[in-house]
Amino acid sequence: MLFETFAAGGCRSYLLGCETSCAAVLIDPELSLTDRYRGRLNQHGLTLRYIVDTHTHADHFSASLALRKAFGAPVAMHRLSAAPFADVRLDDGEMLIAGTLKLTAMHTPGHTHDSMCLVMNDRVFTGDTLLIGGTGRTDLPTGDPHQLFDSLFGKLLKLPGETLVFPAHDYKDRGHSTIADEIRTNPRLQKTDRAAFVEMMHALNLAAPTHLTEALRTNMSGGKTVGQLLSEAACGVPFLSMSELGSRLGGNSRDLIVIDLREKDDYDMGHIEGALHLPRGQLELRVNSELPDPTMRIVTCCEYGKISVLAAATLRDLGFMRATALDGGIAAWREAGFPLEPSR
Ligand SMILES: [Fe+2]
Repeated sequence: MLFETFAAGGCRSYLLGCETSCAAVLIDPELSLTDRYRGRLNQHGLTLRYIVDTHTHADHFSASLALRKAFGAPVAMHRLSAAPFADVRLDDGEMLIAGTLKLTAMHTPGHTHDSMCLVMNDRVFTGDTLLIGGTGRTDLPTGDPHQLFDSLFGKLLKLPGETLVFPAHDYKDRGHSTIADEIRTNPRLQKTDRAAFVEMMHALNLAAPTHLTEALRTNMSGGKTVGQLLSEAACGVPFLSMSELGSRLGGNSRDLIVIDLREKDDYDMGHIEGALHLPRGQLELRVNSELPDPTMRIVTCCEYGKISVLAAATLRDLGFMRATALDGGIAAWREAGFPLEPSR
Protein backbone atom coordinates (compact mmCIF):
# COMPACT_ATOMS: atom_id res chain seq x y z
CA MET A 1 0.00 0.00 0.00
CA LEU A 2 1.12 3.51 -0.77
CA PHE A 3 0.77 5.71 2.27
CA GLU A 4 1.63 9.36 2.61
CA THR A 5 0.98 11.92 5.33
CA PHE A 6 0.50 15.58 4.46
CA ALA A 7 0.88 18.41 6.96
CA ALA A 8 -0.61 21.87 6.73
CA GLY A 9 0.12 23.64 9.99
CA GLY A 10 -1.21 21.28 12.65
CA CYS A 11 -3.61 19.55 10.23
CA ARG A 12 -2.82 16.09 8.95
CA SER A 13 -4.25 14.45 5.87
CA TYR A 14 -3.53 11.02 4.46
CA LEU A 15 -3.26 9.57 0.99
CA LEU A 16 -3.76 5.82 0.66
CA GLY A 17 -3.04 4.08 -2.61
CA CYS A 18 -3.70 0.49 -3.69
CA GLU A 19 -0.70 -0.57 -5.76
CA THR A 20 -2.65 -3.37 -7.46
CA SER A 21 -5.57 -1.35 -8.77
CA CYS A 22 -4.09 2.17 -8.55
CA ALA A 23 -7.19 3.28 -6.60
CA ALA A 24 -6.62 5.99 -3.99
CA VAL A 25 -8.41 7.42 -0.96
CA LEU A 26 -7.70 10.82 0.60
CA ILE A 27 -8.60 11.41 4.22
CA ASP A 28 -9.24 14.91 5.62
CA PRO A 29 -7.72 16.88 2.72
CA GLU A 30 -6.90 20.52 3.39
CA LEU A 31 -7.67 23.25 0.87
CA SER A 32 -4.21 24.83 0.70
CA LEU A 33 -2.72 21.46 -0.34
CA THR A 34 -5.05 20.81 -3.29
CA ASP A 35 -2.29 21.09 -5.89
CA ARG A 36 0.03 18.85 -3.87
CA TYR A 37 -2.56 16.07 -3.72
CA ARG A 38 -3.05 16.40 -7.45
CA GLY A 39 0.72 16.20 -8.00
CA ARG A 40 1.10 13.08 -5.84
CA LEU A 41 -1.85 11.30 -7.46
CA ASN A 42 -0.33 12.01 -10.88
CA GLN A 43 3.17 11.08 -9.77
CA HIS A 44 2.02 7.68 -8.55
CA GLY A 45 -0.48 7.11 -11.37
CA LEU A 46 -3.35 6.85 -8.88
CA THR A 47 -7.06 7.38 -9.50
CA LEU A 48 -8.87 9.05 -6.64
CA ARG A 49 -11.82 6.85 -5.66
CA TYR A 50 -12.96 8.44 -2.41
CA ILE A 51 -12.43 11.67 -0.53
CA VAL A 52 -13.25 11.24 3.14
CA ASP A 53 -13.83 13.87 5.79
CA THR A 54 -13.82 12.35 9.26
CA HIS A 55 -16.11 15.15 10.45
CA THR A 56 -17.27 18.70 9.74
CA HIS A 57 -14.08 20.64 10.39
CA ALA A 58 -14.38 23.91 12.28
CA ASP A 59 -10.72 24.89 12.22
CA HIS A 60 -9.56 24.44 8.64
CA PHE A 61 -10.89 24.49 5.12
CA SER A 62 -11.66 21.10 3.67
CA ALA A 63 -10.49 20.44 0.10
CA SER A 64 -13.20 17.81 -0.40
CA LEU A 65 -15.43 19.85 -2.64
CA ALA A 66 -12.53 21.22 -4.73
CA LEU A 67 -11.14 17.68 -5.20
CA ARG A 68 -14.57 16.30 -5.97
CA LYS A 69 -14.89 18.88 -8.75
CA ALA A 70 -11.36 18.24 -10.00
CA PHE A 71 -11.43 14.44 -9.96
CA GLY A 72 -15.11 13.50 -9.95
CA ALA A 73 -14.53 11.31 -6.89
CA PRO A 74 -17.35 11.06 -4.32
CA VAL A 75 -17.05 12.68 -0.89
CA ALA A 76 -17.74 10.29 1.97
CA MET A 77 -18.81 11.53 5.40
CA HIS A 78 -20.86 10.26 8.29
CA ARG A 79 -24.58 10.29 7.57
CA LEU A 80 -25.15 13.07 10.13
CA SER A 81 -22.91 15.50 8.25
CA ALA A 82 -24.55 18.78 7.28
CA ALA A 83 -22.48 19.08 4.09
CA PRO A 84 -24.82 18.98 1.10
CA PHE A 85 -21.98 17.72 -1.12
CA ALA A 86 -21.42 14.49 0.83
CA ASP A 87 -22.19 11.83 -1.80
CA VAL A 88 -21.67 8.73 0.31
CA ARG A 89 -23.19 8.94 3.78
CA LEU A 90 -21.78 6.29 6.05
CA ASP A 91 -23.29 4.64 9.06
CA ASP A 92 -21.42 2.93 11.88
CA GLY A 93 -19.77 -0.29 10.71
CA GLU A 94 -20.06 0.40 6.99
CA MET A 95 -17.07 -0.02 4.74
CA LEU A 96 -15.58 1.85 1.79
CA ILE A 97 -13.72 -0.33 -0.70
CA ALA A 98 -11.22 1.06 -3.21
CA GLY A 99 -9.13 -1.68 -4.83
CA THR A 100 -7.57 -3.59 -1.94
CA LEU A 101 -8.17 -0.72 0.49
CA LYS A 102 -10.99 -1.37 2.94
CA LEU A 103 -11.91 1.34 5.42
CA THR A 104 -14.56 0.73 8.05
CA ALA A 105 -16.41 3.66 9.56
CA MET A 106 -16.70 3.76 13.35
CA HIS A 107 -19.13 6.46 14.45
CA THR A 108 -17.43 8.32 17.30
CA PRO A 109 -19.51 11.43 18.13
CA GLY A 110 -18.25 13.84 20.77
CA HIS A 111 -15.91 16.29 19.03
CA THR A 112 -18.79 16.75 16.58
CA HIS A 113 -21.90 14.63 16.22
CA ASP A 114 -20.80 13.54 12.72
CA SER A 115 -17.30 12.41 13.79
CA MET A 116 -16.13 9.03 12.64
CA CYS A 117 -12.90 7.08 12.77
CA LEU A 118 -11.79 4.90 9.87
CA VAL A 119 -10.34 1.52 10.69
CA MET A 120 -8.06 -0.15 8.16
CA ASN A 121 -6.05 -3.29 8.99
CA ASP A 122 -3.29 -2.28 11.39
CA ARG A 123 -4.32 1.38 11.73
CA VAL A 124 -7.12 3.76 12.57
CA PHE A 125 -7.62 7.29 11.30
CA THR A 126 -9.06 8.98 14.32
CA GLY A 127 -10.01 12.42 12.97
CA ASP A 128 -10.32 14.71 15.99
CA THR A 129 -11.76 12.04 18.27
CA LEU A 130 -8.33 10.98 19.53
CA LEU A 131 -5.13 12.96 19.04
CA ILE A 132 -1.63 12.01 20.11
CA GLY A 133 -1.57 13.01 23.77
CA GLY A 134 -4.97 14.67 23.52
CA THR A 135 -8.52 14.49 22.24
CA GLY A 136 -10.61 16.77 20.09
CA ARG A 137 -12.39 19.57 21.93
CA THR A 138 -16.09 19.27 22.66
CA ASP A 139 -17.10 22.92 22.98
CA LEU A 140 -17.66 23.67 19.28
CA PRO A 141 -21.04 23.25 17.53
CA THR A 142 -22.51 19.71 17.97
CA GLY A 143 -19.71 18.75 20.40
CA ASP A 144 -20.61 16.77 23.52
CA PRO A 145 -18.16 15.52 26.18
CA HIS A 146 -20.54 12.72 27.27
CA GLN A 147 -20.60 11.37 23.72
CA LEU A 148 -16.82 11.70 23.43
CA PHE A 149 -16.41 9.67 26.63
CA ASP A 150 -18.62 6.90 25.21
CA SER A 151 -16.89 7.00 21.82
CA LEU A 152 -13.44 6.72 23.37
CA PHE A 153 -13.92 4.32 26.24
CA GLY A 154 -16.82 2.38 24.75
CA LYS A 155 -15.51 2.02 21.22
CA LEU A 156 -12.21 3.39 19.94
CA LEU A 157 -9.98 2.34 22.83
CA LYS A 158 -11.32 -1.22 22.54
CA LEU A 159 -9.36 -1.66 19.30
CA PRO A 160 -6.26 -3.87 19.71
CA GLY A 161 -3.53 -2.03 21.61
CA GLU A 162 -1.06 -2.29 18.74
CA THR A 163 -3.40 -0.47 16.34
CA LEU A 164 -1.60 2.54 14.87
CA VAL A 165 -3.28 5.89 15.52
CA PHE A 166 -3.24 8.53 12.77
CA PRO A 167 -5.06 11.68 13.92
CA ALA A 168 -6.31 14.68 11.92
CA HIS A 169 -4.08 16.98 13.97
CA ASP A 170 -0.61 16.80 15.36
CA TYR A 171 1.22 19.89 16.45
CA LYS A 172 4.53 18.26 17.37
CA ASP A 173 5.39 16.21 14.28
CA ARG A 174 5.04 12.88 16.04
CA GLY A 175 3.51 11.12 13.04
CA HIS A 176 1.52 8.43 14.75
CA SER A 177 1.03 6.58 18.00
CA THR A 178 -0.77 3.41 19.09
CA ILE A 179 -3.96 2.77 21.02
CA ALA A 180 -1.93 1.17 23.85
CA ASP A 181 0.43 4.14 24.09
CA GLU A 182 -2.47 6.55 24.21
CA ILE A 183 -4.24 4.56 26.92
CA ARG A 184 -1.01 4.59 28.93
CA THR A 185 0.21 8.14 28.41
CA ASN A 186 -2.54 10.40 27.03
CA PRO A 187 -3.44 12.70 29.96
CA ARG A 188 -7.07 12.99 28.94
CA LEU A 189 -7.53 9.22 28.85
CA GLN A 190 -6.44 8.97 32.48
CA LYS A 191 -9.89 10.32 33.42
CA THR A 192 -11.69 7.01 33.09
CA ASP A 193 -14.63 8.13 35.20
CA ARG A 194 -17.36 9.77 33.11
CA ALA A 195 -18.03 12.68 35.45
CA ALA A 196 -14.32 13.47 35.82
CA PHE A 197 -13.80 13.29 32.05
CA VAL A 198 -16.75 15.60 31.35
CA GLU A 199 -15.62 18.03 34.02
CA MET A 200 -12.12 18.10 32.53
CA MET A 201 -13.50 18.81 29.05
CA HIS A 202 -15.76 21.58 30.38
CA ALA A 203 -12.83 23.15 32.20
CA LEU A 204 -10.56 23.41 29.14
CA ASN A 205 -11.76 26.90 28.26
CA LEU A 206 -10.06 26.94 24.86
CA ALA A 207 -9.87 29.93 22.56
CA ALA A 208 -12.03 29.73 19.45
CA PRO A 209 -10.09 28.43 16.46
CA THR A 210 -9.02 30.95 13.82
CA HIS A 211 -11.43 31.02 10.88
CA LEU A 212 -14.12 29.23 12.93
CA THR A 213 -17.12 30.80 11.24
CA GLU A 214 -15.61 30.77 7.76
CA ALA A 215 -14.56 27.13 8.11
CA LEU A 216 -17.99 26.07 9.35
CA ARG A 217 -19.74 28.13 6.71
CA THR A 218 -17.74 26.70 3.82
CA ASN A 219 -17.37 23.13 5.09
CA MET A 220 -21.08 22.84 5.90
CA SER A 221 -22.40 24.49 2.76
CA GLY A 222 -19.83 23.92 0.04
CA GLY A 223 -19.51 27.70 -0.34
CA LYS A 224 -16.17 29.31 -1.13
CA THR A 225 -13.68 30.83 1.26
CA VAL A 226 -12.82 34.48 0.65
CA GLY A 227 -9.33 33.34 -0.34
CA GLN A 228 -10.78 30.93 -2.89
CA LEU A 229 -13.01 33.64 -4.35
CA LEU A 230 -10.00 35.94 -4.72
CA SER A 231 -7.66 33.33 -6.17
CA GLU A 232 -10.28 32.13 -8.65
CA ALA A 233 -10.82 35.74 -9.79
CA ALA A 234 -7.05 36.23 -10.02
CA CYS A 235 -6.72 33.25 -12.39
CA GLY A 236 -8.60 35.16 -15.08
CA VAL A 237 -6.99 38.56 -14.60
CA PRO A 238 -3.55 39.82 -15.66
CA PHE A 239 -1.77 42.24 -13.32
CA LEU A 240 0.26 45.38 -13.84
CA SER A 241 3.21 45.93 -11.53
CA MET A 242 3.49 49.25 -9.73
CA SER A 243 6.66 50.14 -11.64
CA GLU A 244 5.01 49.28 -14.97
CA LEU A 245 2.03 51.48 -14.16
CA GLY A 246 4.32 54.22 -12.83
CA SER A 247 6.22 54.31 -16.11
CA ARG A 248 3.01 54.61 -18.10
CA LEU A 249 1.66 57.63 -16.23
CA GLY A 250 2.16 61.19 -17.43
CA GLY A 251 3.07 62.38 -20.91
CA ASN A 252 0.69 62.53 -23.82
CA SER A 253 0.79 58.91 -24.87
CA ARG A 254 -1.30 57.58 -22.05
CA ASP A 255 -3.21 54.58 -23.23
CA LEU A 256 -4.84 53.26 -20.10
CA ILE A 257 -7.52 54.24 -17.62
CA VAL A 258 -6.75 53.84 -13.93
CA ILE A 259 -9.94 53.10 -11.96
CA ASP A 260 -9.78 53.85 -8.23
CA LEU A 261 -12.39 51.70 -6.48
CA ARG A 262 -12.07 53.16 -2.98
CA GLU A 263 -14.60 55.38 -1.19
CA LYS A 264 -14.61 59.13 -1.86
CA ASP A 265 -12.72 60.25 1.25
CA ASP A 266 -9.81 57.93 0.49
CA TYR A 267 -9.77 58.94 -3.15
CA ASP A 268 -9.86 62.65 -2.29
CA MET A 269 -6.99 62.28 0.13
CA GLY A 270 -4.66 60.93 -2.52
CA HIS A 271 -5.06 58.98 -5.77
CA ILE A 272 -2.94 58.00 -8.73
CA GLU A 273 -2.68 60.88 -11.16
CA GLY A 274 -5.65 60.99 -13.52
CA ALA A 275 -7.42 58.03 -11.87
CA LEU A 276 -11.13 57.74 -12.49
CA HIS A 277 -13.06 57.47 -9.23
CA LEU A 278 -15.54 54.62 -9.49
CA PRO A 279 -16.29 53.07 -6.08
CA ARG A 280 -16.62 49.27 -6.11
CA GLY A 281 -20.22 49.52 -4.91
CA GLN A 282 -21.17 51.52 -8.01
CA LEU A 283 -19.08 49.73 -10.61
CA GLU A 284 -21.84 47.79 -12.36
CA LEU A 285 -24.28 50.71 -12.10
CA ARG A 286 -22.02 53.27 -13.72
CA VAL A 287 -19.89 51.15 -16.02
CA ASN A 288 -21.84 51.97 -19.18
CA SER A 289 -21.67 55.73 -18.72
CA GLU A 290 -18.13 55.92 -17.32
CA LEU A 291 -16.45 53.44 -19.65
CA PRO A 292 -18.03 53.81 -23.06
CA ASP A 293 -15.08 52.27 -24.92
CA PRO A 294 -14.74 48.53 -24.17
CA THR A 295 -11.44 48.34 -26.06
CA MET A 296 -9.66 50.66 -23.59
CA ARG A 297 -6.89 49.31 -21.43
CA ILE A 298 -7.98 49.47 -17.80
CA VAL A 299 -6.14 48.97 -14.53
CA THR A 300 -8.14 48.77 -11.30
CA CYS A 301 -6.78 49.70 -7.89
CA CYS A 302 -8.03 49.66 -4.32
CA GLU A 303 -6.41 50.08 -0.91
CA TYR A 304 -5.02 46.56 -0.45
CA GLY A 305 -5.07 45.01 -3.93
CA LYS A 306 -7.85 42.50 -3.32
CA ILE A 307 -11.11 44.19 -4.28
CA SER A 308 -9.32 45.43 -7.41
CA VAL A 309 -8.93 41.80 -8.55
CA LEU A 310 -12.66 41.11 -8.14
CA ALA A 311 -13.46 44.34 -10.00
CA ALA A 312 -11.10 43.54 -12.88
CA ALA A 313 -12.66 40.06 -13.14
CA THR A 314 -16.13 41.65 -13.19
CA LEU A 315 -15.04 44.07 -15.93
CA ARG A 316 -13.70 41.16 -17.99
CA ASP A 317 -17.00 39.34 -17.50
CA LEU A 318 -18.75 42.44 -18.78
CA GLY A 319 -16.66 42.50 -21.93
CA PHE A 320 -13.80 44.84 -21.02
CA MET A 321 -11.25 42.37 -22.26
CA ARG A 322 -8.26 44.57 -21.48
CA ALA A 323 -9.09 45.04 -17.78
CA THR A 324 -6.16 44.34 -15.44
CA ALA A 325 -5.51 44.87 -11.74
CA LEU A 326 -2.65 46.66 -10.03
CA ASP A 327 -0.34 44.18 -8.31
CA GLY A 328 -0.59 45.62 -4.81
CA GLY A 329 -2.89 48.31 -3.50
CA ILE A 330 -2.67 52.03 -2.97
CA ALA A 331 -1.20 51.30 0.46
CA ALA A 332 1.74 49.51 -1.18
CA TRP A 333 1.95 52.17 -3.89
CA ARG A 334 2.21 54.86 -1.22
CA GLU A 335 4.76 52.87 0.76
CA ALA A 336 6.91 52.35 -2.34
CA GLY A 337 7.11 56.12 -2.78
CA PHE A 338 5.02 56.44 -5.92
CA PRO A 339 3.17 59.77 -6.21
CA LEU A 340 -0.43 60.34 -5.16
CA GLU A 341 -2.34 63.53 -5.71
CA PRO A 342 -5.22 64.93 -3.66
CA SER A 343 -8.52 66.04 -5.17
CA ARG A 344 -8.72 69.83 -5.66
FE1 LIG B 1 -12.12 19.11 14.06
